[in-house]
Amino acid sequence: MSEKIPLLIDTDPGVDDALALLMAFHSDAHDVVGLTIAAGNVGLEHTVRNALKLREVVGRPDVPVFPGCSGPLVHVPREDAAHVHGRDGFGDIGYPEPAGTAADEHAALAILRLSHEHAGRLLLVALGPLTNLALALRLDPTLPQRVARLVVMGGAVTAHGNITPVAEFNIGFDPESAHVVLSEFPRYDLADWEATIAHGFHHRRAEAWLAADSPRARFYEAISRQTRLWSEDRRGELWHSADALAMAWALEPEGALEQAERPVAVETEGRLARGLTAVDWNRQTGAADNARILLRYDQARFESRVEAALAAA
Ligand code: BDR
Ligand code: CA
Repeated sequence: MSEKIPLLIDTDPGVDDALALLMAFHSDAHDVVGLTIAAGNVGLEHTVRNALKLREVVGRPDVPVFPGCSGPLVHVPREDAAHVHGRDGFGDIGYPEPAGTAADEHAALAILRLSHEHAGRLLLVALGPLTNLALALRLDPTLPQRVARLVVMGGAVTAHGNITPVAEFNIGFDPESAHVVLSEFPRYDLADWEATIAHGFHHRRAEAWLAADSPRARFYEAISRQTRLWSEDRRGELWHSADALAMAWALEPEGALEQAERPVAVETEGRLARGLTAVDWNRQTGAADNARILLRYDQARFESRVEAALAAA
């Protein structure tokens, strides 16, 4: 058996998902055993195609890509995130069609199968809406027993949302699935939108990393160009990459400088409250601390991991 940690990534690529994937593929300590694909940032046909392209860019066509749910479990959301990531999710650069094809197995079934194959060792990282994971849990509620660690990018732990005033995109896109996953996994790590905002990169610094003479940097420079311009215009001098921060913490938990363990619940109702991640900061409910929330990560470690992943040959 490989000494490496088996890593399964549920993702909706997406420009920041792509950076997280580059980091995952670059890690010597981890073995990416599959990419299960959700709809979210853009539609499933695009997120699957983007995952196929990304595995090609890193020279890993052997890593299976499993298409998952084409939309949320219950309600169709009002909007996707094409205005941030481009209509195709990868900056509309018109990249050539990827060579490989996706697997026939559904993402939810692949999650369950791989959880058996890597029982007790699997690192599961969720970078998109939690639809595939919720479906997997409904098919087999014993899934958490076989997952060594679940890291979720999602939520806004003091209700400073990015898709509604209180909701973060991954949770707000499919709150019912988020409720299933975040209430049925007894323990998980949560890297939320507010942690993302606290760990931005300076645009000029990021541009220097993107100028590296490597196919990965060239590809990433191209697909992220539109979103970097949008970000600089809207958010100022720092560029934020939610999924990259979650991946840094997943790959290198020692980099966390401050974390808090608290009960977290997802609100599924209410015109304004739907998609809220309610954190019981003062432990008033008596609920168990199910979430370990990332508050502060070593910025230098984060940045050097991103830089190295981009520069890799
Ligand atoms: C999350 O939403 C998506 O747009 C990003 O890929 C990230 O996973 C941030 O709210
Ligand atoms: Ca994502």
